[in-house]
Amino acid sequence: MSTLTEDIVRLKEMRNAVILAHYYVNDEVQEIADYIGDSYYLSKVAKDLKEDVIVFAGVSFMGESAKLLCPDKTVLMPDMKADCAMAHMVDLDKIQKMREEYEDLAVVCYINSTAKIKTYADVCVTSANAVKIVKNLPNKNIFFIPDGNLGRYVAEQVPEKNVILNDGYCPVHAAQTKEDVKNAKAKYPNAEFVVHPECIKELLDEASYIGSTSGIIDYVSNSSCNEFIIGTEDGVFYELKKQNPEKKFYKLNDKFVCHDMKLVTLEKIKNVLETMENQVEISEELREKALRPLDNMLEYAK
Ligand code: 13P
Ligand code: SF4
Repeated sequence: MSTLTEDIVRLKEMRNAVILAHYYVNDEVQEIADYIGDSYYLSKVAKDLKEDVIVFAGVSFMGESAKLLCPDKTVLMPDMKADCAMAHMVDLDKIQKMREEYEDLAVVCYINSTAKIKTYADVCVTSANAVKIVKNLPNKNIFFIPDGNLGRYVAEQVPEKNVILNDGYCPVHAAQTKEDVKNAKAKYPNAEFVVHPECIKELLDEASYIGSTSGIIDYVSNSSCNEFIIGTEDGVFYELKKQNPEKKFYKLNDKFVCHDMKLVTLEKIKNVLETMENQVEISEELREKALRPLDNMLEYAK
């Protein structure tokens, strides 16, 4: 164990803290985390933790969600600048307009959104449960925010609903092109292509499997195929290799990196545990309104 890791272990004990990490953070951070997972798993875990302090190795909407679900805990962000660009891509006036236009509208909000945006939603979803939740909602008309790509994928899976799309997108996933897939498939002809639904339709059309990061990991681990081209952020390679040391994983290209997730480092984790700086603060008024759709998600996804 390095001195840095030893310091983190010691500080964690001293603060009665736990480290939650998303699959997209740096390998060495995943290595020391107590829980690693996708957004859905991490929000379920956060709710039942007994420790006093959560260090969230991820981007700001993840820390906010943890604070909404566990208001009595201290939630620390290793780097306050680690943010998800898509989490802000909603025009609030448009939500109001949609509500006026459709009487039975459900505003379905991807968890990749700010707490403020969540206050306008009826239910949150993650990429792991969006299809199931939209299918089970009593409403026919759905306004899916902020991710237009995930929204379009959900709409295709639930054709009985009228899913109205927003124009938000993940700058990392949506930047990958059909050409990237064509080149990777030519280079690795025996590999299956698996993809996250935040990617554009042209990529999803080429995939053997479409799903959240944990969906991708489960699919790959249970598949009889031995080679895979991975259509999501390159942090998942850590868990893919850990669970499947005998299988081969190929990058779609070298640009599949969420630089915000990579802002989280061991040094910064040690620093926040030492100083207790970078605490997520949410007013009681904001919490009351933003928690409802998150709680609804956990209920609907059961
Ligand atoms: P997951 O829902 O698979 O965790 O994805 C979160 C995310 O940020 C994808 O870009
Ligand atoms: Fe946001 Fe995309 Fe980064 Fe995920 S990969 S946190 S959606 S910018």
